[in-house]
Amino acid sequence: MRTVPLGNTGPQVSRLGLGCMGMSALYGEADRAESVATIHAALEAGITLLDTGDFYGMGHNEMLIGEALRAAPAARREQALLSVKFGALRDPDGGWSGYDGRPAAVKNFAAYSLQRLGVDHIDVYRIARVDPDVPIEETVGAVAELVEQGYVRHIGLSEAGAETVRRAAATAPISDLQIEYSLISRGIERDILPATRELGIAVTAYGVLSRGLISGHFTADRQLAANDFRAHSPRFQGENLRHNLSLVEALRKIAEEKGVTVAQIAIAWVVSRGEDIVPLVGARRRDRLTEALGALDVTLDEADLAAIEEAVPEGAAAGERYPEAQMGHLDSER
Ligand SMILES: NC(=O)c1ccc[n+]([C@@H]2O[C@H](COP(=O)([O-])OP(=O)(O)OC[C@H]3O[C@@H](n4cnc5c(N)ncnc54)[C@H](OP(=O)(O)O)[C@@H]3O)[C@@H](O)[C@H]2O)c1
Repeated sequence: MRTVPLGNTGPQVSRLGLGCMGMSALYGEADRAESVATIHAALEAGITLLDTGDFYGMGHNEMLIGEALRAAPAARREQALLSVKFGALRDPDGGWSGYDGRPAAVKNFAAYSLQRLGVDHIDVYRIARVDPDVPIEETVGAVAELVEQGYVRHIGLSEAGAETVRRAAATAPISDLQIEYSLISRGIERDILPATRELGIAVTAYGVLSRGLISGHFTADRQLAANDFRAHSPRFQGENLRHNLSLVEALRKIAEEKGVTVAQIAIAWVVSRGEDIVPLVGARRRDRLTEALGALDVTLDEADLAAIEEAVPEGAAAGERYPEAQMGHLDSER
């Protein structure tokens, strides 16, 4: 497994990270034993970066990762770098009620995460959404105090816009910005990516398969549970979905000519965007993980990149990447 530095100040990480969210929440039922086996297979394949959030299944995801790490051989456990998001407020029904980036809340979130994960430090800690009521300097400053105390190693950001990234970087060293980036979500290319590059901050890209939409496995007749994110995501609705799946079919032709899969083309495209961009793949089964890892063997030459651009030009997707109310929480979209 190739490794790359996570920005100027972060650790060396595997070329792909594993996003564990779908093992606990948002994409329908997940199989616990298969989830643990997928984490083990990822570590075995050399993946070091595991991403989670304390609010993914209200602690479920962190406890799952903790369980998987305890059951892994010591060498594998030690290679794992944990990237944890905090700040989202939940209720017992699974509802969402905003974000809390106050320093006291940051430390409270961290205290619980360390327990659930069963570790003495978190490798990269970040607020999931910028709290509009708390200056980013205060939130990042609180994480910097946790770094001084040894509970956190590096400070990350999530879905922050260019100006917020600059303010955060002026407060403390920032390793990476976690943000959606894929063939059909290219918004960061305008202002955000130039800013992170100027500041030596990496991007950990999520939604590289647009939550399965451009994986080549999603079909229009798929039944989604009411609590599945995609049941409410504009890109998965009616005419939008039909249009977006037609983009996937155009990608499939390119994939078939190269003897690879659609998901591998989509992941390889993000990898091709730069050494500072680390895709977090949301595999929750070993077969999906194997497919995702295969993307690292796919080389896209100029002709391939041109064909991909023609099949899925910038802005080709129908529908925003989040429902309207959630778009409002994205500092990156301001
Ligand atoms: N910072 C943020 O705001 C934010 C937001 C969302 C996610 N994230 C993080 O980023 C991670 C990745 O995001 P994501 O899960 O939305 O990413 P994704 O990789 O775009 O989508 C994952 C979905 O794609 C499907 N899929 C099909 N083929 C796949 C393959 N070969 N490999 C992987 N997945 C495949 C899976 O569905 P099936 O399992 O049904 O096949 C899975 O549900 C999350 O786990 C989370 O840690 C961060």
